Amino acid sequence: MKNSLRIRWLFPACGLLALCTLLASADRDEGKHKKSGGGTLPPAATRQVSYTNDVKPLFADNCFGCHADGEHKGGYRMDTQAQILKLVSKGNSAKSKLIRMTAGLVERDEIMPPKTGLKPAEVGILRAWIDQGAKFDDKPATKPAK
Ligand code: HEC
Repeated sequence: MKNSLRIRWLFPACGLLALCTLLASADRDEGKHKKSGGGTLPPAATRQVSYTNDVKPLFADNCFGCHADGEHKGGYRMDTQAQILKLVSKGNSAKSKLIRMTAGLVERDEIMPPKTGLKPAEVGILRAWIDQGAKFDDKPATKPAK
């Protein structure tokens, strides 16, 4: 009696274990194959955003350390508008490399900042900026000379 009870539980338990192992290995194989950063695309922020107040501080905190002021990791600098715009598909944040890199939708070694990417809310701000036309509202520091 004691034995048959144990056997009755043994089969479902084995089945469950086998299933879990199968799922776990399928997951691992997929990761290896795509070398994906495994990120998801966060929604764009719904408010109006500005380059100076919202976007530039994010770049300063998260990118400039390696991509500005003489530090050009990967040959890339982020402190000129032309360079930033190379990562942007105006009006289409979901397609923009800037978003795909910071949200981890690229290969693992392309995620920026390296390994971590940005927080979903930060990616959301960048998305909103791109969707709103990727405008630079920087005021010149001094008035142009006459
Ligand atoms: C800790 C340093 C570091 C930070 C911070 C960092 N990067 Fe990078 N970045 C690198 C390195 C290193 C490479 C070169 C990677 C390579 O060549 O494999 C690189 C390469 C790049 C490239 C060129 C990739 C290509 O495919 O040509 C871009 C674009 C880039 N980073 C954008 C960013 C952006 C945007 C941020 C901020 C959101 C950022 N990085 C933050 C270190 C950094």
